Amino acid sequence: MRITMIGSGYVGLVSGACFSDFGHDVICVDKDQSKIDALHAGRMPIFEPGLDQLVASNVAAGRLTFTTNLASAVAGADAIFIAVGTPSRRGDGHADLSYVFAATEEIAAAVTGPTVVVTKSTVPVGTGDRVEAILREKRPDIDVAVVSNPEFLREGAAIGDFKRPDRIVIGTEDDRAKQVMRDVYRPLYLNESPILFVSRRTSELIKYAANAFLATKITFINEIADLCEAVGADVQDVSRGIGLDNRIGKKFLHAGPGYGGSCFPKDTLALLKTAEDYQTPVHIVEAVVKVNDSRKRAMGRKVLHALGDNPRGKTVALLGLTFKPNTDDMRDAPSLAIATALADAGVTVRTHDPEGMAPAKTMMPDLVYCTDAYDAAEGADAVVIVTEWDAYRALDLARLKRVMARPVMVDLRNVYQRTDVEQAGFTYTAVGR
Ligand code: UDX
Repeated sequence: MRITMIGSGYVGLVSGACFSDFGHDVICVDKDQSKIDALHAGRMPIFEPGLDQLVASNVAAGRLTFTTNLASAVAGADAIFIAVGTPSRRGDGHADLSYVFAATEEIAAAVTGPTVVVTKSTVPVGTGDRVEAILREKRPDIDVAVVSNPEFLREGAAIGDFKRPDRIVIGTEDDRAKQVMRDVYRPLYLNESPILFVSRRTSELIKYAANAFLATKITFINEIADLCEAVGADVQDVSRGIGLDNRIGKKFLHAGPGYGGSCFPKDTLALLKTAEDYQTPVHIVEAVVKVNDSRKRAMGRKVLHALGDNPRGKTVALLGLTFKPNTDDMRDAPSLAIATALADAGVTVRTHDPEGMAPAKTMMPDLVYCTDAYDAAEGADAVVIVTEWDAYRALDLARLKRVMARPVMVDLRNVYQRTDVEQAGFTYTAVGR
């Protein structure tokens, strides 16, 4: 099959590389010449484990190419995926669909024969209808079906998630489009990944409902963690105790500093906007958004509390800045709110992150960026684990203590055992334990 992927960002590039690895011919398109040049030179525009090798081997096999020329890429394609960004629109939280519609217009101008246009970008319910309307109006001469096919990739685990998905969701009622999508995904559903055919609007909503549900699960356990602290219970045991019930499930029950990243914050807000538009409130998601926002600031206060009565002039080592490990993504990361709260209280912040320091420097130029965890801890009154990178899971506590001004650890990801840290002479604060 010939597949065109419009947008070579996170979703487009991972999906394109994986489709080519299945044996399809894939052309990835992007407007950004420097991104395409970098890809031609074998440099990845994002950090994702395994992506560079996957891209290199499929480029070498001649199945994966990159271009800025959308028109040539679209001509003759069996399926054209739209995987451009849908950021939150400044001011109102609606998903900004301008890139999706711009891509649609360009496809309409370039399409040469019957094809299937697939929205992979996360788009509000009804967007597929609007994409179809544009195509029908501009190209009444050509049979183009519009399909919704949301992605469920996690950053840092995206290739595995793509190749072994829990499910594939396809939103279309068009028989020809169904067959094309079956062919596109054949290697996966032969692998026994369930493929779900639903209406286009249902498919669009599934994506938002999934992310909102996961965000709710995290927020629920975070509030239970606060309650655990108040009553003297252990949230990790509560998670295990409830998660072993199959109806609840074990995953996404790790209490922490609140969710961040490119999806949950944006998609929960966009779902609320859809709910508002249709005058059908989703109160539970409203609460999740509010609770998660305030939690990030509360984590700043938790660190200040661990510093004692007068934090001004003290130093804190923040370990981990990205919203989760194995990514360089800083979007809506809890570290941003925590660092701001500390700076506002007159605390000096030293920090280290294995991949996120370059983007963090532009967002938080006033922090002191260090070479590793021990360098960050030099002279610190507390070390705070904000993101659970492997590099911070087995720190040499004796060495850490030697370089710190005061041995205090705030473990916002519950990666350490209290007894180990206390035996090493630290004061230890965790989340919900
Ligand atoms: C998420 C969805 O998982 C994915 O299906 C969707 O396509 C995009 O959004 P991602 O944002 O990459 O993926 O990260 P994920 O691993 O889901 O984590 C999101 C946030 O939740 C992170 O900040 C993480 O630290 C937090 N989290 C996750 C918790 O605090 N506790 C948990 O138990 C799980």
